[in-house]
Amino acid sequence: GCPVYLTRHGESLGNQTKSMGGDGNLSETGDRYAGVLADFVAAQLGAGQSRLLVWCSPMKRATQTARAVKCHRYSQWQALTELDTGVFNGCSYKQVERDYPDEFTAREVDKLCYRYPEGEGYLDVVNRLDPVVVALEKEDRPVIVVSHQAVLRCLYAYFHDISLREMPRIPISLHTVVKLTPVDYHPEASAAGAAA
Ligand code: G3H
Repeated sequence: GCPVYLTRHGESLGNQTKSMGGDGNLSETGDRYAGVLADFVAAQLGAGQSRLLVWCSPMKRATQTARAVKCHRYSQWQALTELDTGVFNGCSYKQVERDYPDEFTAREVDKLCYRYPEGEGYLDVVNRLDPVVVALEKEDRPVIVVSHQAVLRCLYAYFHDISLREMPRIPISLHTVVKLTPVDYHPEASAAGAAA
């Protein structure tokens, strides 16, 4: 199978202020990552880059990160957008902890099942990613997914067989690319090997 690369957007202004949600631009550091990422992908794929598919979140910080990556086809998937933090969009984690301690605690206690008021929870994200996973598994071209922390936790957990309970706390660093190399499964070949 072809490799699948996963990366978060570069550092955004929201990352710098530790705020949730919003559709902010990249910081200067994040902007540099866009260039580094383009060079990294070129070095990884060589001539194979002409077959590359870029699947990107529609948010600005993601499209700005993906823009320099040369590819066969670039597409935006609504399903790759970040977990919707609902009424807390634009707040900092500290503000929520101080002003809405019950909400903050509820999320700490059960991060998987917690859903932001008027927004989403991790299980919503898992569900909306279903078509992305199906498409990734069928794809015979290399793909780079440029998305967000919560979304990449869901994809990473799925492909690494990590339980849903553990999934919302998987560390997914900024400015890091995860490479998934699918293992081809050849039942006929292994049966023949066993018989030999
Ligand atoms: O809200 C979206 C964040 O990227 C996910 O971070 O679930 O750890 O708060 P969090």
